[in-house]
Amino acid sequence: MIILKSKREIELMHKAGQLLANCHKEIAKRIKPGITTLEIDAFVEQYLKKHGATPEQKGYKGYEFATCASINDEICHGFPRNTPLQNGDIVTIDMVVNLNGALADSAWSYAVGDVSPQAANLLHVTEEALNKAIEQSVIGSRLGDIGHAIQSYVEGEGYSVVRDFTGHGIGKTIHEPPTVLHYGEPNKGQRLKEGMVITIEPMVNIGAWESKMDDNKWTARTIDGSLSAQYEHTIAITKDGPIILTKQ
Ligand code: MF3
Ligand code: CO
Repeated sequence: MIILKSKREIELMHKAGQLLANCHKEIAKRIKPGITTLEIDAFVEQYLKKHGATPEQKGYKGYEFATCASINDEICHGFPRNTPLQNGDIVTIDMVVNLNGALADSAWSYAVGDVSPQAANLLHVTEEALNKAIEQSVIGSRLGDIGHAIQSYVEGEGYSVVRDFTGHGIGKTIHEPPTVLHYGEPNKGQRLKEGMVITIEPMVNIGAWESKMDDNKWTARTIDGSLSAQYEHTIAITKDGPIILTKQ
């Protein structure tokens, strides 16, 4: 059952999303060779606390951190750690903010120092794929339209779309129906309705789409060691079109 949100609920989620967006802007200033993802995680926790919010991921299904920090070939759910980021790395910081019971979810990939042209292009294509999916996020269009917009663009650029992780509805808990696939066929799947709030969060690999799981049972990485990037927004479907609740 998809839980449709009222205007008021969307407003509250928007406030959480704006705080999350501001937090990402602060992270962007701090991402440099030498900083560790544990330091970023500590910054996020303190930033949210200062603004009256909490990190919803911490304690979720036993997850121990405020953020996920996925470096280079890690696709998602990387653990923050105390190894310094290196010039040329790419890192995805993903977090869910709880502000007065309303949630918002957004991941962003960052370049650390100077990255290769290949890495820079991967970041560009992945962000663009998210934008193309958001354009499809209007009342009456279907989930397959979102997946198709991402997949056709990404594969046309010579990259692949991860299948093992998806976007999702979000509300009082992080994961609600529907499942939002980042691949698919146009004009298939559930229709978008006013009041739906979903995440769209394509993970794009330079090489093959398949993933393997680390021994920690959380972190997924590319099967061939190729780089992976991700951009995620929380989107409300409204009469006035999609509202990007986590817009920076
Ligand atoms: N933010 C993630 C998502 O996009 C949720 C991660 S769950 C966690 O679905 F436990 F790893 F934090
Ligand atoms: Co997320």
